[in-house]
Amino acid sequence: MALFLTVSVKGLDNGLVRTPPMGWLSWERFRCNTDCKNDPDNCISEKLYKTMADLLVSEGYKDVGYEYINIDDCWMAKERDSQGKLVPDPERFPSGIKALADYMHSKGLKLGIYEDFGSKTCGGFPGSEFYMMSDANTFAEWNVDMLKFDGCYSDPKQMEAGFKAMGQFLNNTGHPMVYSCEWPLYQIGDKIKPDYGAIRETCNLWRNFGDVQDSWTSILSIIDFYGKDDGNFSSYNGPGGWNDPDMLVAGDFGLSYEEEKTQFVMWSMWSSPLFMSNDLRKISNHTKQLLQHKGILAINQDPLGAQAVRQWQISSVGLWLKPLAKNGSYAVAIVNRDDQGMPHKISVQVNQLGLSGPAYNFTEVFDNKFYGHYKSSDQFTVEINPLGAFLAIATPTDS
Ligand SMILES: *[C@@H]1O[C@H](CO)[C@@H](O)[C@H](O)[C@H]1NC(C)=O
Ligand SMILES: *[C@@H]1O[C@H](CO)[C@@H](O)[C@H](O)[C@H]1NC(C)=O
Ligand SMILES: *[C@@H]1O[C@H](CO)[C@@H](O)[C@H](O)[C@H]1NC(C)=O
Repeated sequence: MALFLTVSVKGLDNGLVRTPPMGWLSWERFRCNTDCKNDPDNCISEKLYKTMADLLVSEGYKDVGYEYINIDDCWMAKERDSQGKLVPDPERFPSGIKALADYMHSKGLKLGIYEDFGSKTCGGFPGSEFYMMSDANTFAEWNVDMLKFDGCYSDPKQMEAGFKAMGQFLNNTGHPMVYSCEWPLYQIGDKIKPDYGAIRETCNLWRNFGDVQDSWTSILSIIDFYGKDDGNFSSYNGPGGWNDPDMLVAGDFGLSYEEEKTQFVMWSMWSSPLFMSNDLRKISNHTKQLLQHKGILAINQDPLGAQAVRQWQISSVGLWLKPLAKNGSYAVAIVNRDDQGMPHKISVQVNQLGLSGPAYNFTEVFDNKFYGHYKSSDQFTVEINPLGAFLAIATPTDS
């Protein structure tokens, strides 16, 4: 059984994101679509972010905790201005970024922005190389609340020093900004072992695996990476500093409802940042209810902030445990990767679930229903749909 290490490494001390941040991010769904002439409703523009902000509020997402609206790549003009300052594309962001931040704040939301450590962003727009201090100051001046700092067109060997420097420039502005880093992702890609201790001291969240795509294959590859937990990166997760498995794609094209559910369950089990990347104008009630499920979100936002660790994976069944702040309780997720077209029956002894207490009460989370009282030697049986997940909370009892 895996040990749960408490976070012993000092985190970035900016007081932000003590629970995983929640919000909406444009990249996975809207990419680098800059064609506002032909596709005005879907291009990267202030209109898109305002539309999503309005829906975050009117459709109830804000009420359950989604608060960031985050810009990703392709918001800029192709060149800096004559003073070297970043400028948003004037046609797509005619009011400017500060006005957009004001708009978010007026709705009780926050605005995130995107830049890149290298010479160019991944989409080919001006990068922060040689301009980090100036860009940090610009973002503070615009009143943005979060920066995602990417790593295209740069040398991963320089990332530790470079991302630390950007963190210092952000801090020096005196304006609180959540700092999201892609530093470990690029280092792993370059076969450099990331120093998660240094990363946690510098960043509020950090990507360590490739971009999520709109497919079950992509979700599964992320679940596997988090299951392997190479370098015990799970032990660095906690208040103020989060491993980031990338965006939620529920509501898009590629996943079935069961697959959306599994992604949402796992991201919540890991206490991961929850950034939806979908079109909030076109989302089924079913998926919307999933994304707003209070019981699942409470697991994601649990104050302990522990990242679930995979206890075992036996053929198509994986078992994950996440300790919760409430004394001795655990969130238990069982994922069924079997795609055979009927619910898969899983039956194990309670002590094989990795729970070592004498007895537990189980509450199923989706329906918020008491599932049963089990002693450690009792047989625990569930049926899980193909590619679906079972989620319960186990609360210890004396006997
Ligand atoms: C800057 O860093 C100091 C020391 O870690 C911290 O107390 C402060 O809150 C930080 N300020 C901002 C704006 O991040
Ligand atoms: C990860 O944790 C396991 C058990 O908790 C331990 O045996 C292993 O040495 C750790 N590995 C690293 C790289 O820290
Ligand atoms: C979704 O829910 C709303 C409000 O409960 C309802 O008016 C609408 O008809 C539902 N839409 C679908 C497609 O079920």
